[in-house]
Amino acid sequence: MTRLGILTSGGDAPGMNAAIRAAVRSATERRIECVGIHRGFSGLIEADTGPLGNRSVGGIIERGGTMLRSARSEAFLRPDGQARALQTIVDEGITALLVIGGNGSLRGARWLSQNGVPTVGIPASIDNDVPGTSMAIGVDTALNTVVECLNRIRDTAVAHERAFVVEVMGRKSGYIALMGGLAGGAEIVLLPEVAASLESIADRVLAGVRKGKRHSILVVAEGFVPSDEPLDGRSPGRAVASYLERIDALETRLTILGHLLRGGSPTAFDRILASRFAEVAVALISEGAGASMTALVDGRIDALPLDVVDEPCTNVDRKLLDLADVIAR
Ligand code: F6P
Repeated sequence: MTRLGILTSGGDAPGMNAAIRAAVRSATERRIECVGIHRGFSGLIEADTGPLGNRSVGGIIERGGTMLRSARSEAFLRPDGQARALQTIVDEGITALLVIGGNGSLRGARWLSQNGVPTVGIPASIDNDVPGTSMAIGVDTALNTVVECLNRIRDTAVAHERAFVVEVMGRKSGYIALMGGLAGGAEIVLLPEVAASLESIADRVLAGVRKGKRHSILVVAEGFVPSDEPLDGRSPGRAVASYLERIDALETRLTILGHLLRGGSPTAFDRILASRFAEVAVALISEGAGASMTALVDGRIDALPLDVVDEPCTNVDRKLLDLADVIAR
């Protein structure tokens, strides 16, 4: 009898609940018993678990966050924590694990697979920086939140003839900034992947003013670093906004969207992606496959070896940055 432990780990992402729901119900269909592990790898270390069945995952498909709760576990990176996690797996009679999370969590999943626990991963992270999959759970919802925020900010930017610097999450990835900026009609998008100086950014704002643009929206990824001035502890959005104020380009305001992007009811896309990932993940588990993760590849759900987490992620398409620039002129 397979007894499947399910956990969500790292930054929560909208759609994690939809994945839990679909995993439990697909597992039930295959006569696989499920156990919920609370607070990610921390709960695995501390044996913080509880039963999971079809009824306990009802009414969650529309909810952001994760009913299993999440954590970034430092302890799981240490040998003593790892040993306790393996002990919990033995004590709970868990025979396979499903880990729903981003890069760090999928590395944890690989470690468990390498240490005798068949483990399958489902990519979930608003950053969209998991190698091998074109989309992770939560990205679409976060993007839609960026677009909604930009719509609102544009009203004020136009009304007051201001520049708005909008900083978005994404860690070292510029995916949310690029796609959110493109969809939200930002004048300038700044990514960690593409170097730019504060001087050149200001020149672009001023060029817009000369062409009659009386407002400007700059979307800045939290991982962006200007090439001509150190951040000195400032966020990149703050550095860009301060520079624009200093040269008096346009009256400037800074908005940091931060954790607003992590919450909220998942979009239809994220609910469907999560459900499809979960079904394939449970099929892999029932076939005895470990060390794999689900991925969206050319519209299909594929199974990839967990080792892809070491490869570079190619989701940021720089050609789209040129497009964002041209269509904002
Ligand atoms: O990985 C998701 C993410 O929201 C990143 O975009 C951000 O850099 C980080 O997590 C923030 O983490 P925390 O919520 O632990 O501060």
